[in-house]
Amino acid sequence: MATYDIVLHGATGFVGQLVVDYLARHPEGGRFSWAIAGRNPEKLARIKSSAVAQGSEPGVIVAQAADKASVEAMVSDARVVLNTAGPYSECHGDNIVGACAVSGTHYADLSGEYWYQRRLIDEYHEEADRSGAKIVLAAGVDSIPSDLGVQLAIEHLASKGGQPRHTKSLFTSYAGSFSGGTRRSMQARKRIAQSSEYEPGFHTDPYVLAPGAKRSDESETVSGWVSRRFDADFRRIGGPFFMAPINARVVRRSLALGGHLPCTYAEGISTGAWLKTSWLWLSRGFGYFVGAPIPMKPESGQGPPPWLQRAGNFCVRVHASTGDRTGSALVEVQGAGDPGYLATSKMFSELGLTLLLDDTPPGGGVLTPATALGPVLRQRLAEAEEGKFMQFRILS
Ligand SMILES: NC(=O)c1ccc[n+]([C@@H]2O[C@H](COP(=O)([O-])OP(=O)(O)OC[C@H]3O[C@@H](n4cnc5c(N)ncnc54)[C@H](OP(=O)(O)O)[C@@H]3O)[C@@H](O)[C@H]2O)c1
Repeated sequence: MATYDIVLHGATGFVGQLVVDYLARHPEGGRFSWAIAGRNPEKLARIKSSAVAQGSEPGVIVAQAADKASVEAMVSDARVVLNTAGPYSECHGDNIVGACAVSGTHYADLSGEYWYQRRLIDEYHEEADRSGAKIVLAAGVDSIPSDLGVQLAIEHLASKGGQPRHTKSLFTSYAGSFSGGTRRSMQARKRIAQSSEYEPGFHTDPYVLAPGAKRSDESETVSGWVSRRFDADFRRIGGPFFMAPINARVVRRSLALGGHLPCTYAEGISTGAWLKTSWLWLSRGFGYFVGAPIPMKPESGQGPPPWLQRAGNFCVRVHASTGDRTGSALVEVQGAGDPGYLATSKMFSELGLTLLLDDTPPGGGVLTPATALGPVLRQRLAEAEEGKFMQFRILS
């Protein structure tokens, strides 16, 4: 019998601490018990004190992610495991996923490392399907807004009688910065791409997270948006987006699991979004004017300063079409707070609460936010902070 409803592993990291703050103050705090977990007891004790100061008292579990017995003991104490210890490919995330898949324990992480995600799919999808564990990958700004946005656009297109043939997203705002953990994940991505561990085609396969999927368009690239151009559907100039390679692979897994292939996906960012971010940074002198500079080479545990966490925001428009001009749908997903950190910590926490408290679709497996939870998660996010955090709008 699990002692805790939620166990947050990686609570000592930059995002982990933001999740602690959000859960400690959550209005539904009376509906769940929780514990923080990690490898360093002193750091965990400090984080617990900060939660207690905010009116909540999580348990503490010292666990070594590299040690399977230690991981199994932690997982057996949880109904839902939330994991913010990354880079996941280097922090033994697979041990935690394995224990959850076997025991039928729901799990979510913030991974964007496609080679790690693919390994989990190969090794644990069937096991998790059998046990009923929902293993939800990419449960932050990578890739919830893109993934739920595409799902909403397809739903809206279907309500007009259309089948999706092409989907695409354009971020029109993405204002924030990055953390030490994200920097380490980017370095891990570079290392794996330069190593000989995988065939070169593995890294450029847009459907790497949808094994067995047939490509409908051989020219489709990983992000799907390769050059700066005017897009008539979005009525904006868009170009390549550095987070698109993460999101596009995840969205294509959703399209595959949802039975929507062959349907293409592309993701870019508008020129206006870069101008908005540049203005936010410049107007505060990169944080020097407000006494909290943005760290340009953040170490583990460091990330955007509090003023940027609050001033940040994101907005993505998503278009779905039948491909033969008979139907299209346009939706928008927007949110407040630095996308990768304050906003991610809220999305991730709410996703954990959806797994625990809400009436979720049946079935387990190594899934995406949209395929694991879909409209239920969308509703929870739209209601969080009395509707002031995230909005989902149908535009046409
Ligand atoms: N999907 C998204 O939208 C999104 C957004 C933001 C971040 N992320 C990802 O989230 C992850 C965390 O980012 P962050 O900035 O919070 O990182 P961070 O500050 O460096 O925190 C890393 C956490 O992992 C733990 N850890 C590190 N190495 C470990 C190991 N070998 N075994 C067990 N635990 C280990 C650390 O524990 P100690 O404190 O004991 O060192 C710490 O709790 C990164 O992978 C990042 O890319 C994703």
